[in-house]
Amino acid sequence: MPSSKTKQNLRSSVVDLQKTPSHVAIIMDGNRRWAKKHSLPAIVGHTKGAQTLTNIVKVANKLKIKTLTVFAFSTENWSRSEKEIKNIMKLFNVYLKKQLKFMQKEKVRLDVIGDLSKLDKNLQKAFLDVIDKTKNNQNINLVLAINYGAKNEMKRAILKMIEDVENKKILKKDISENLISSYLDTKNYPDPDLLIRTSNENRISNFLLWQLSYSEIYITKILWPDFKEKDFIEAISEFQKRKRRLGGN
Ligand code: FPP
Repeated sequence: MPSSKTKQNLRSSVVDLQKTPSHVAIIMDGNRRWAKKHSLPAIVGHTKGAQTLTNIVKVANKLKIKTLTVFAFSTENWSRSEKEIKNIMKLFNVYLKKQLKFMQKEKVRLDVIGDLSKLDKNLQKAFLDVIDKTKNNQNINLVLAINYGAKNEMKRAILKMIEDVENKKILKKDISENLISSYLDTKNYPDPDLLIRTSNENRISNFLLWQLSYSEIYITKILWPDFKEKDFIEAISEFQKRKRRLGGN
């Protein structure tokens, strides 16, 4: 039994701090349904979703989780209305401005996966600026998936691999699962141990298809803006009860 010092007790959920997952991925879903439920515009749901993210980073940090990767904007989200896309991009800008102080205080290292090149140049610059300013922070990696789609990520990785084979930087015979992983946007991180998806949707939705091969999946009906510290603790506690078989016995 771990000592009580290594446990975080919250309501009925107990987390063993010695066994927290190293990498948690989250599909933050349900912002618009939350807004609709409260008769508010979609952007209010996204803004509340951004506040939820800050709270969850704080608790993940407390639990000594090393990497948190969250789906913030998918390659499919471009099909939303122009107004909603514009509002989400504005929200990213505000988030980066407002959260830098928090990230420095909590020693959060920001990173982005996905193809940033489709974003407005100033927004790209704002992301790169915060990434640079937080690059030496060592408590937790906050990885935002922006204009991210796993199929797009794989396509970019394959094209780069072909280019490297053609330029003789790598040999066809060297292509292994590890080498493929090293061409993905997530090359600097281990695969997620746990995927959390809110709002009761039972799909992967083109998120980290390669990396989630053996991750445990936790789905909750709570809408992302309502997802609280206790709900995150509950997910981690449930993860710790699972027996990870990783394809073996
Ligand atoms: C899913 O809810 C959420 C998104 C597509 C956008 C995610 C954005 C945030 C959580 C904002 C905070 C993030 C940052 C980095 C500032 P949805 O719109 O698909 O809601 P629905 O499933 O109810 O339609």
